[in-house]
Amino acid sequence: MRVDTTADSTAGKRTLKMKSMHKKLGIAMLVISAGAISLFAAKPSAAAGKAVYASKCEGCHAATGKGQSFMANSDLTAPAAKKKSNAALAAIIRKGAPPMPSFSSLSASEIHNLVAYVRELQHQK
Ligand code: HEC
Repeated sequence: MRVDTTADSTAGKRTLKMKSMHKKLGIAMLVISAGAISLFAAKPSAAAGKAVYASKCEGCHAATGKGQSFMANSDLTAPAAKKKSNAALAAIIRKGAPPMPSFSSLSASEIHNLVAYVRELQHQK
């Protein structure tokens, strides 16, 4: 790039403009790489979990997670369930806990999404 030494202020502005372009490019690159990373370490999605929950779990655990009155111990918002780790909840979902059937046909990520949604239900009052 040719820098016009006779018009210092114009050159200065031009340099500034270039800097801000570089900054924008840098931010764009960051956004793109963050997107790529999120593809590899997919965060559990409570929203995706909600859809599965509505079709497979609500019948016993109710839409609120507080459990159906006819199904004993099905309150997922009870202190005992809140205290369990994500891994413990995931294991119960995968293996079942009679009378709850096993959901071993769900993928690991579907189960993590369900756990994320159960946590969301537990945080509602
Ligand atoms: C047939 C009814 C039924 C269905 C369907 C069902 N559950 Fe359950 N679930 C129960 C019952 C009853 C318990 C309590 C079992 C026990 O007493 O240990 C339970 C326990 C759990 C627990 C452990 C709670 C705790 O306090 O340890 C989790 C987590 C859970 N269910 C999640 C799910 C999810 C997610 C689904 C859907 C994929 C699901 N359940 C489907 C009846 C059901």
